[in-house]
Amino acid sequence: MIRYYDGCFLLNTKTTSYCFRVLPTGHLEQVYYGNKIMDDGVSDFILKASFEAMSEKREFTAGNSIAYSDDYQSICLEDTALEISTPGKGDVRENSLVIINADGVSTSDVIFKGYDITEDEHRLSELPHSSSNGKSAQTLRIEMSDEYSNALITLFYTVYPECDVITRSISVCNTGNRDIHIEKIMSLCLDLYGGGYEYTCFGGHWAREMHKDTGKLKSGSHIIASRTGTSSSRSNPLFLISDNADEDFGSVYGFNLIYSGDHYESMSVSSFGKTRFMTGINPENFSWRLSNDMCFEAPEAVMTYSDKGFGGVSLNFHSFVKDHILPVRFKDKERPILINSWEANYFRFNEDSLLRLARSAKACGIELFVMDDGWFGKRDDDHSSLGDWTVYEDKLPGGLKSLSDKIHDLGMTFGIWVEPEMINEDSRLFRAHPDYAVKVPGHVHSKGRDQLILDLTRKEVQDNVIAQMKAVFSSCRIEYVKWDMNRVFSDRFSTGLQALEQGEFSHRYILGLYRIIRELTLAFPDILFEGCASGGNRFDLGMLAFFPQIWGSDDTDAIERTAIQEGYSYGYPMITVGSHVSAVPNHQTMRCETAETRFAVACTGAFGYELDLDQLSDEELSEVYSQTEFYKKYRNTLQNGTYHRINEEQWMVVSEDKKTAVGFFVKMRLTPNKSLDVFKTKGLEPSLLYKVTNRVCDKHLSDFGSLINSMDQSAMEDSAVDLKPGEQSFVRDPAVDLKPGEQSLLRDPAVDHRPAGQDLSADGTINEAGRIRGEKMEIKALGSALNNCGVRLMYGYGGTGYNENTRIMKDMEARIYIFEAV
Ligand code: DGJ
Repeated sequence: MIRYYDGCFLLNTKTTSYCFRVLPTGHLEQVYYGNKIMDDGVSDFILKASFEAMSEKREFTAGNSIAYSDDYQSICLEDTALEISTPGKGDVRENSLVIINADGVSTSDVIFKGYDITEDEHRLSELPHSSSNGKSAQTLRIEMSDEYSNALITLFYTVYPECDVITRSISVCNTGNRDIHIEKIMSLCLDLYGGGYEYTCFGGHWAREMHKDTGKLKSGSHIIASRTGTSSSRSNPLFLISDNADEDFGSVYGFNLIYSGDHYESMSVSSFGKTRFMTGINPENFSWRLSNDMCFEAPEAVMTYSDKGFGGVSLNFHSFVKDHILPVRFKDKERPILINSWEANYFRFNEDSLLRLARSAKACGIELFVMDDGWFGKRDDDHSSLGDWTVYEDKLPGGLKSLSDKIHDLGMTFGIWVEPEMINEDSRLFRAHPDYAVKVPGHVHSKGRDQLILDLTRKEVQDNVIAQMKAVFSSCRIEYVKWDMNRVFSDRFSTGLQALEQGEFSHRYILGLYRIIRELTLAFPDILFEGCASGGNRFDLGMLAFFPQIWGSDDTDAIERTAIQEGYSYGYPMITVGSHVSAVPNHQTMRCETAETRFAVACTGAFGYELDLDQLSDEELSEVYSQTEFYKKYRNTLQNGTYHRINEEQWMVVSEDKKTAVGFFVKMRLTPNKSLDVFKTKGLEPSLLYKVTNRVCDKHLSDFGSLINSMDQSAMEDSAVDLKPGEQSFVRDPAVDLKPGEQSLLRDPAVDHRPAGQDLSADGTINEAGRIRGEKMEIKALGSALNNCGVRLMYGYGGTGYNENTRIMKDMEARIYIFEAV
């Protein structure tokens, strides 16, 4: 996997090669990154000769550029593809490492000293990092030094061959006897030859996370960064660089950072036409004092390459995250279907109302009950009690234990919500320890959601959080915890840091947070933690190293979620993205989607529900039941399968053995008679024969509106469904009152929610609930036909006729297709 010969480093993954060499000056020059060009076992001669051929040729320093030294007149660092770039010696592009010496000197020159190669990953001491987890991995450690500052700089490269990923990180140790200050330290610096690459990055805001942004860069720079104190919904650290690529073809480089705080990514094109990318801790708000014998380690960055387009890079990331980031004990662990109380009742609940919701959920086949915000202190709204993690007895008189026991008695597991990093001024904790909150002394603090942030840079504050959480998590049977964090940083300052150390605040906060969650996840290894920060304001590989899933967005609208979840899918496996079916009209958008659409979108992620089931009609409850039944049947495929984007409206998941697949189609807009819809699969086994069926989506008579009364009779004549209105209009007087009855048997958990409608139509197409059976597809085809041509779907409604084989997919309606090898 890693080869060295005569100054040449070759890092091979299964299908990629990363090559760099030591220049005569001692600088490290990147030579090539792309498709695999030679095997590990290639001869020394061929390796060296190939590096020579691939390396840039130099004779003179161009124009007014700086020549590195008298001895090396032709080496111009401004036009060298460098593994690490420092100021002062001619590289006038953006630098990746900036060290300021005690005398103010900022020039540094980082020169190769030696290397070693070890088996396994590189373990960072305080930061989360990738792990081999039993799969092959090798680490190259390169030592370099900057003579002036006496800094020892170590570059780490861990190669994960199976998922085509190489991770990189860097540490700086002060071996001199004067303090130095690190002003900027990028974890990865990569110079690609040529310009005109395209960037793809992902950002937005609260309830609008991970919206994709693309552009082409011929000159200048494109920078994304977080200044929220978290990895942020404003811009996720995931970054892609491509060269005329599409979903399936073309060169794409993918990058990410295993870090949950302020990050920085920049892509810039130099005047010589090389493209530089770097990622690391955001240098704004950052400066680190390094005294003698102290070391600083930067977060681990991730890079991957595929010539199979964006889809190829996403598959690499998905395998990497599953195999090398997620806590290993959760990698293949089945995730339960959950119901979360937040959008069901917000802060207004008591034990009885929670148990009512849990009973309905149980009857619908839901497995885990999660009590969200509002159960502690005196929390009736978001103005008080953060910091006081004792039960609110007015709401839960028997405490957490009573509720947990009763939930377990129903045959469900139990989870709770916490927001441990925060404090309200109206709390016992604040009254006892006002200094625990982050504030600039003597200044009015700007609040977010009326709360302040606990100063996690201080060990005593970390210890308080750990102790309170340990008490909560061990107070009763808790199988799941949602760890929330609901504001961005302001007024950064710690009373625990000296004036010259205040630039360390943001990173020290993240280190404190990692210490807390490391200790808690070790103490409670069986709890399934779900990260959250006002939705996806801290969705990153650092959190995923502790929490195997993260709530993707507070936007639960299925249509908004298609864009948000598509964004996540570029870099994160969908099982890491919390995703729930919620009520209509949706609480964030007031939009109404069908139950099938909401299910199709939610069940692609870490699946659950978040609505008041008691507001649903019996018919709607039956649909929920049928969804959970379906989910359980295909859970293994949906949770552990391979996820493929097909286009903006279609995606699919294929089981590991390729014998089962589930395809999703959300039609954004029905345009009559425009083009026929096709579902062209990805990832099916070409030689297998598949049976293809769809989840049947019934229509209601009311869906047809006045069409029923005005439809041309001749258009209906051949129809298997007799839609001719009788004397009474079906539309105005449906056969069954679908409004929830006062007493509903279906809400009794003893009764299941399977639809019990009696067929009214002769052929069974209309049942007593006034439902018209949707189209039912059943065909067989070879995987190769499905992958190459696709299934041409059943006839799409176009305004001039309707029968049982007609597929009506109105705007935003969904179909789920099932592919089973026969
Ligand atoms: C923000 C989260 O994203 C929501 O899901 C919910 O848990 C609220 N916080 C509760 O305050």
